[in-house]
Amino acid sequence: MSNSIKFHDRALSLGLARVAEQAAIASAKLIGRGDEKAADQAAVNAMRTQLNMLDIAGVVVIGEGERDEAPMLFIGEEVGNGKGPAVDIALDPLEGTTLTAKDMPNALTVIAMGPRGSMLHAPDVYMEKLAIGPRLPKNIVSLEMQPAERVKALAVAKNCGQEDITVCVLERPRHDKMIAELRKTGCAIRLITDGDVAGVIHCAESAITGIDMYMGLGGAPEGVLAAAALKCMGGQMWGRLVFRNEAERNRASSAGITDFNRIYSRDDMVTQDVVFAATGVTDGSILSGIKREVGYLTTETILMRSKTGSMRRMSYRSPTI
Ligand code: FBP
Repeated sequence: MSNSIKFHDRALSLGLARVAEQAAIASAKLIGRGDEKAADQAAVNAMRTQLNMLDIAGVVVIGEGERDEAPMLFIGEEVGNGKGPAVDIALDPLEGTTLTAKDMPNALTVIAMGPRGSMLHAPDVYMEKLAIGPRLPKNIVSLEMQPAERVKALAVAKNCGQEDITVCVLERPRHDKMIAELRKTGCAIRLITDGDVAGVIHCAESAITGIDMYMGLGGAPEGVLAAAALKCMGGQMWGRLVFRNEAERNRASSAGITDFNRIYSRDDMVTQDVVFAATGVTDGSILSGIKREVGYLTTETILMRSKTGSMRRMSYRSPTI
């Protein structure tokens, strides 16, 4: 084991961007082909192959599922060539499988890396999420507040009217009541059909995306990935696990969760500095999707480091083989 090797996030970051890029490229031929599973599998295969080329002793903490459910990139799988630092890997090879299959906006490949023990081992259950962008006073909104109170508080902090606030919400029947309450405030609601990692990230770039706040229930693993992104970009986020049955509670216990009601802040979910990379698969508000021309594919990737707060945008052109 190489636990004594220091995690040099700067040196490893470009390798991480390549992992995200290759996963996106692998799924390119499946955009708009109506086959979620094939698109996901292509991205998983490519991400795993690329990860195993990195000089890391990695363990997947957020992955494709439990060991007995996912043949590859399952939680606990060791990745990397073992010759580098001990790191945690959180990944979603294709965030928005349906978006990809239907060629709808904001499908991404996503990966985050940090020192061992840096990221919450979130079980595959739902998480109630709330996120706002950077440069706002701390804790002006909270999960304990009603949705309408959050809009009011954010409008005061931003010195604007409630009608100037846009809230991003996953369009699901479970959110009908929350949406009705938000409507009463006069705010705008950006409904998305999938892809709440992008939904949360969009809060950090509200001048470009027009989104001020994200709220609602989505996947807990996606919550940790979004927290890793916001740790790099600035912005506040909170999450609380939501259990629908005993089996889900057991799943959380096996992941080491003891307090089922805990509210996790961004820094509770991601406790140390991390590197985050995402490549656009379909066009989105902050990342272009894959562009094809005869003989070539072009991708756009963001690569961010929380230690420096830096964001690098990279365009990569690859011959199609
Ligand atoms: P997939 O990429 O696995 O299809 O997940 C997409 C997603 O929309 C996530 O972004 C979100 O957290 C989750 O699914 C929501 O789950 P559900 O579809 O059960 O509401």
